[in-house]
Amino acid sequence: MVNPPVVSPYTPAMNATDQTPSTPAADPVEHLRVAVRQAIVAALGTEYADVDPVIRASQNPQFGDFQANFAMALAKSLGRKPRDLATEVAAAIDFGDLADPPEIAGPGFINIRLKPDALARCLEAMDDDALGVTADPDPHAVVIDLCGVKVAKELHVGHLRATIIGDALARIFERRGRLVHRENHLGDWGLPIAMVLHELRASGTNLDTLQLADLNRAYRDAQLSARADPRGLETALRTHAGPHRIIELREQNAGAQDALDAAKATLVRLQGGDPELVRDWQKLIDCTMRSVYEAIDLLNVDLGPENNRGESFYRDRLPDVIDAFARAGLAEEDDGALVVRFPDRERPLVIRKSDGGFLYATTDLAAVRYRVHELNGGRVIYVVDARQRDHFRDVFDAARRIGWDQTPDHRTAELVHIGFGTVLGDDKRPLKTRSGRNVTLRSLLDEAIERGIDAVRERATDERAPTHGLPDAEIARIGRAVGIAAIKYADLSNDLVRDYVFDMDRMVAFEGNTGPYLQYAHARTARILGDSGLDDDAIDDAPLLLREPTEKLLALALLRYGQAVAQVTDSLEPHRVCTYLYDLANAFNAFYQQCPVLKADDDETMRSRLRLCRLVRRVIADGLNILGIEAPDRM
Ligand code: ARG
Repeated sequence: MVNPPVVSPYTPAMNATDQTPSTPAADPVEHLRVAVRQAIVAALGTEYADVDPVIRASQNPQFGDFQANFAMALAKSLGRKPRDLATEVAAAIDFGDLADPPEIAGPGFINIRLKPDALARCLEAMDDDALGVTADPDPHAVVIDLCGVKVAKELHVGHLRATIIGDALARIFERRGRLVHRENHLGDWGLPIAMVLHELRASGTNLDTLQLADLNRAYRDAQLSARADPRGLETALRTHAGPHRIIELREQNAGAQDALDAAKATLVRLQGGDPELVRDWQKLIDCTMRSVYEAIDLLNVDLGPENNRGESFYRDRLPDVIDAFARAGLAEEDDGALVVRFPDRERPLVIRKSDGGFLYATTDLAAVRYRVHELNGGRVIYVVDARQRDHFRDVFDAARRIGWDQTPDHRTAELVHIGFGTVLGDDKRPLKTRSGRNVTLRSLLDEAIERGIDAVRERATDERAPTHGLPDAEIARIGRAVGIAAIKYADLSNDLVRDYVFDMDRMVAFEGNTGPYLQYAHARTARILGDSGLDDDAIDDAPLLLREPTEKLLALALLRYGQAVAQVTDSLEPHRVCTYLYDLANAFNAFYQQCPVLKADDDETMRSRLRLCRLVRRVIADGLNILGIEAPDRM
């Protein structure tokens, strides 16, 4: 029921440079750019050879298929009228067999209409494994910090986003042949973990049968028992609150101190490598990760134990971070702590506490260094919620100052934080259950799956549905894919930085810009192809005849795929692929309404249209695959 794994035609980055993209001829924009540039040079001289012709797809077929929009900006710098300039350059354009003679419109747009044959040739050139996606020859790795759960904490929707978005970006870079490192920067080290560990050991809990809920409870208990209330005691003393209250508060404070001391002692032993403690600590991690992998399995996300490089991994590198900053004169003492100051902000970045302890930021500095120097990361992308914006700004700036953003071959690595927005409930506040608790990831996924199965089952009752009569297990499998697609697509199709309202009804709808809508368009192409009774070879060799307006528009939409993918690796905005796929599905539906496929007038037209269907099917499957979404053949 799922699409066959899409095999990337490119081997990973190492030798990506050897692989010339298989489809230089596929993208008409490239051809147009060359022709317009030549005309600019012919009209204005060779010193204008670098002018960008600004080729854009037309918003309205009335203005042709593409426009060259360079004239407005260029005319300004030349002190000329844009329309005159456009006319002069247009007169020098020779599109040959590619396009009709250009037309000038408005203030100086040059409208371009491709010849149907040229369009067909471009599409034929795109029809290979690459589907118009070009390889990115940059040999540096792309490092993606994703998931980032904390040990002993229940997973919630925020982790869902960090995982889904990170995985999609990783897939998109891999699709372009880049070497990607997925780094799960687990919160698996430090005092909070030691507190839980101490709490669990003190209460005699059997760590081998530990469930995440137990762990969670221990986390809360540990936090509670270490909570002192010195201000309360002060007030009680000052206001003569009575001996009972004072004794109670004294006890609470003493107990908190004891709990904290015990946790600190545990941490010291853990840091020292006490084998028994290390073994128990590992059990906490395993327990947390078991439920992470359960969710990840459902989500079809590519993340495993090999991607774990948590805070603990960097623990031995922290003293060196401090030394390096001190030696470089970039850190100064402040009340016993060591801080990095920035001229443009009030708060410094603390990299060592006054008690000698290290911080979250210290670990992140070690991680930047590792990722750029040892993993050779040219782009290091942190998919972490927006509330950590200041943290990453400070860490990145500190890393840049000390030069840890320089790759081994002296390139400046790009350090980026993709601070995604919060998932909101109906009330426009962070998503909570009715009882006010955080919504667990598991409950969310279970509901989506249930909804997906219901929707598919309901459709299958129709006798004409391709799913009619399928065994229940198969219906359930398709339904699961639909439910998960609904969640993932909703998460990816919005501008990442914006908060969004979690609306399950809208997400699972088969209409609108949703995952299920795209899956449905894919399944529809699969059905048409299946009904044709022809095998793929017979279809793939058919000459493409693009006569009807909707056929042309569909062809143009297909040809934009490579660009849509490249845009995401540039802008790190996966929603662009979503928008692209949605437009493609709409173009396909318009085509399908206007152009009978199996009932076409003649055999050639039918085969040509089947070939279009097959391309649409492959592009949607590929596009969903790079978003980490399955494309079932039947729905
Ligand atoms: N564990 C962190 C948290 O829950 C997220 C980790 C993000 N990655 C990083 N390199 N700091 O807040």
